Amino acid sequence: MKNFNITAKIQICSYDELHPEEKKLIDCSKEACSRAYAPYSQFRVGAAALLANGEIVTGSNQENVAFPSGLCAERTALFYANSQYPEHAVRSLAIAAYTQGDFVDKPISPCGACRQVILETEMRYQNPVRIFLYGKSEIYIIEGIKDLLPLAFDAIVTSDE
Ligand code: THU
Repeated sequence: MKNFNITAKIQICSYDELHPEEKKLIDCSKEACSRAYAPYSQFRVGAAALLANGEIVTGSNQENVAFPSGLCAERTALFYANSQYPEHAVRSLAIAAYTQGDFVDKPISPCGACRQVILETEMRYQNPVRIFLYGKSEIYIIEGIKDLLPLAFDAIVTSDE
């Protein structure tokens, strides 16, 4: 029997270490938390996607009394970006979360379904999505979804043209 070890690369930094455009993207994801509809979880998530044309598109979690009908912030932002600007790749995605009167101290990480959608976005545009996970005490930077979704299912994705 053989072992197959998988490693993930995650950079940790502070807000002050970021470039102005990276700070702006994170600020947009934080602002987006205020537009969440989260009456059931009281957990407000914001996502901001930077597109290849320089546009920033945001999304927030939108809950529903029939729980599975709600949608995470990341997918709200990416589906909006891909539907409004289908010709522009998503270059990076920032994610922030706000609960109990404050932003989370340690970053939260996208759920499995959102990771799969980020992967599809990368494949669709043949471009890795740089991911910023915001926490008050530290920010994680991940260069592409492969570090969050190893051994991903990507078997049958093909062009829709
Ligand atoms: N949520 C997101 O929007 N993104 C994540 O990365 C994790 C979870 C939402 C789903 C639900 O509305 C609330 O946060 C609590 O799980």
